[in-house]
Order: sequence, then structure tokens, then C-alpha cells
Amino acid sequence: MAVDLLLGLQWGDEGKGKIVDVLTKDYDIIARFQGGPNAGHTLEFDGIKHVLHTIPSGIFHKNALNIVGNGVVIDPVIFRKELDNLEKFRIDIGSRLFISRKAHLILPTHRLLDAASEASKGKAKIGSTLKGIGPTYMDKTGRNGMRIGDLELANWKEKYRALADKHEAMIDFYDVEIQYDLKELEDEFMSAIRELMKLRFIDSEEYIYQARKEGKKILAEGAQGSLLDIDFGTYPYVTSSNTTAAGACTGLGVAPGAIGRVFGIFKAYATRVGSGPFPTELFDKDGATMGRVGNEFGATTGRPRRCGWLDLVALKYAVQINGVTELMMMKGDVLSGFKKIKVCTAYSYKGKTIRHLPFNIEAENVTPIYTEMQGWAKDLTKMSKAEELPGTLNDYIDFLEGELEVPIKIVSVGPDRTQTIHR
Ligand code: IMP
Repeated sequence: MAVDLLLGLQWGDEGKGKIVDVLTKDYDIIARFQGGPNAGHTLEFDGIKHVLHTIPSGIFHKNALNIVGNGVVIDPVIFRKELDNLEKFRIDIGSRLFISRKAHLILPTHRLLDAASEASKGKAKIGSTLKGIGPTYMDKTGRNGMRIGDLELANWKEKYRALADKHEAMIDFYDVEIQYDLKELEDEFMSAIRELMKLRFIDSEEYIYQARKEGKKILAEGAQGSLLDIDFGTYPYVTSSNTTAAGACTGLGVAPGAIGRVFGIFKAYATRVGSGPFPTELFDKDGATMGRVGNEFGATTGRPRRCGWLDLVALKYAVQINGVTELMMMKGDVLSGFKKIKVCTAYSYKGKTIRHLPFNIEAENVTPIYTEMQGWAKDLTKMSKAEELPGTLNDYIDFLEGELEVPIKIVSVGPDRTQTIHR
């Protein structure tokens, strides 16, 4: 059985949590393959809003097993908070949530290093979520990291101490002012580790291989978005993992030939949190309207998101890098009421018109070229069938499908599970 992928195609926050939740009824296993608690996956049903950071978005479904794969980085303290929030739902976590032994641990000192690194960068800061993601992946590739499987070894605390001491020396090296009480952070960490150790640790690559052989249907849930990919995103303003399709192979141990459908999610407009280039960003009342109506505030940090028109040059690039087979358009409802809708179809770059993403998309290099379309006035949020969608929205969808050469199979018209239109 092939493994299907679900990926964000922009700068994250496309609505992956909602769509995984909608799709989970068709899958036996939902597996996260990269990122960590920098992600905030929001799900809404039965009038309640849930935000997950590390736990896969299939956790609310009885039929699904959830796996945190080897490519994920786990902060036990945040993980415990997520588990505490789930307590009231009486989910049998022990049988529904397994963790890869090869996933790396975020130590309290990784978080401090993240803060020290950002503070040292001044204006050039990445706008990191400060969850320790970068320093943890640095230790992974630097071959110094601590993994979940280490917790099963007798000497793990010695290994922890050596790494934390090294981090403290590095924090001093940054020579910036950050206040912390390491003893307090470590007490919290150790107590969270004890909770984490109650869960089942597995060799997830082997588990997934056997599950595939048994015909189990698996959905790999991406975090962040393609434009935050460490290789293909707007470097250095990116996260520290491969958020694109290939990341699912390395982050779960799934061979490339085993990948089946690739679902790509995008918003009908664009948003970005943190620093970095964003060619179609709006600084006018249209951008403010998108932010207000779309409730564009970070699910992890609460920061207001920057908003702008859909960038088809960047979206095509993401479709191409990921080999997207089906698209899902989110938040079309937020654009209701705009008389005209703009879509960026090319860039003006060094005096030329180009239709691909160049090395550098900073404002001084790139000016977006727009195609203008008619908006729609109707409220979409109560609609449930494709036939109800307004004609000008259908024109917008047809235009995007024509440009992207991939069908748009789902149009989401609100945050709730039920506000999902299949085409
Ligand atoms: P980090 O991954 O926390 O180091 O953050 C690096 C960049 O990625 C920053 O610009 C963050 O705002 C952005 N980022 C990280 N995770 C997410 C996410 O889940 N959604 C949107 N942006 C994110």
C-alpha cells in the first residue's frame, strides 16, 4: 500500500490540521514526519477548537493510529501539555499514539540557544518561534543530538548533562542578555520525560513497512510549508527541516516509490509569519481585511500574520517540487466581499518577466505582476455543495487549475470539519 502525503504549499498555516482531520476516516495511520512544536495545527468540530503542535491531527479518530516519525523533534514539556489538553476527551493515548525511537529531543538549552541566536542577529533575525527547532536540528546533523531511544539507555542522564553543559558554554559565547533559571527548566523537563516514557516507543520505519505490507492506509502529515523548506524555501528565512515531499521519505523511512497521492494545501490568498521575503504582501486595507476576517494570528505564537495576494509563481514552484497530484484550496470564504481579486502570475526580475522562482525574491529584486479577477459577494460559509459556489469563484478556481495543471479537489469554506466542499 502506498503512503499518501499532505503538505502545505506556502509559508505554513494553510489549514493542514483541518484537512488531515477530514481525511482521517479513510486512513489507518497518520504520521508526522518533520518539524516540531513550532507547528500549530488547528482542528474545529462540535463547536470546539483544538490546537496540536507535535501530535498528529488524526488523534481524535478512533480508527487511526498516530505516529510521531523519526524526522520530528520533540519537546517533552510541550508534548506533555498537549497530552494534558487531550485528557478530557478520554482518548486511549497508549494505544493510539506511538513515537519513533529515532526522533530527536528538544532540550531546555536548545530553546535557550534559539533565543540567544535570534537575539544576536538583531534586524536579521529569522522570526523563529523560539521553540528550539534550529539548534535541535543542528545537533542532529552535527551528530550530537539526543534521541527518544536514548531514554531507554541506562546512561541517558549523563549524555543529557554533557550536551546541556556544552549548550551553556555556547550560550555564553553568544554574549547576549537572556534570563533563565536552568534548574527550574530542567525539573520541568525531567518530569515531562517521565510522562513521555509511559508512551510506546517504536522503530517506526519498520512498523510502517510492515503496516504497508498488511495493506494499511497511511497518511503522512506535513508541518510548515514548502516555502519554509530548508533547501527550497526562502533561505535563510526558513525552518530547519525538509517540509517538502522528500522530507516524508527521510522523516519516516518510506522509499520514494512508495509515495502515492500528494495532497497540496494552499490558501486562496497568502500569509507569512516571521521575517523574510513575501513579494505579494499587502500593507493596505485589503491586507488588513484578510488578516481580520481570516483571523490570521499564529496558532503557536499568537503573532499577527502578514497577508497578501496569492502568488502563483511560488505556488507552481511548490507544486513542482512536491509532485502534487491534488490540490485543496482553503479560506476562499475570507475573500468574499472583495470586488476585485488579484493573483500574481509572473515576476518582473532585473527588467525581465519571469515565471519561475529565482534565487532571491527580496523586494528589491522582484516585483509581482498581477492578473485581476472579479470577486464574489456571497457568504460561502454555509455552503456544502460544489454547485452552490458562486460563478466568479468557479472562474477563480478554473483559472488556478489551468495555471497549476492540477485539479482542486477540496474547497474549504470555514474552519469547521463540516465546512468542506468536495469537487
Ligand atoms: P522556527 O522553525 O521556529 O525556527 O522558525 C523559522 C521560521 O519559520 C519563522 O519565520 C517562523 O515564523 C516560521 N514557522 C515555523 N513554524 C511555522 C508554522 O508552523 N507556521 C508558519 N510559520 C512557521
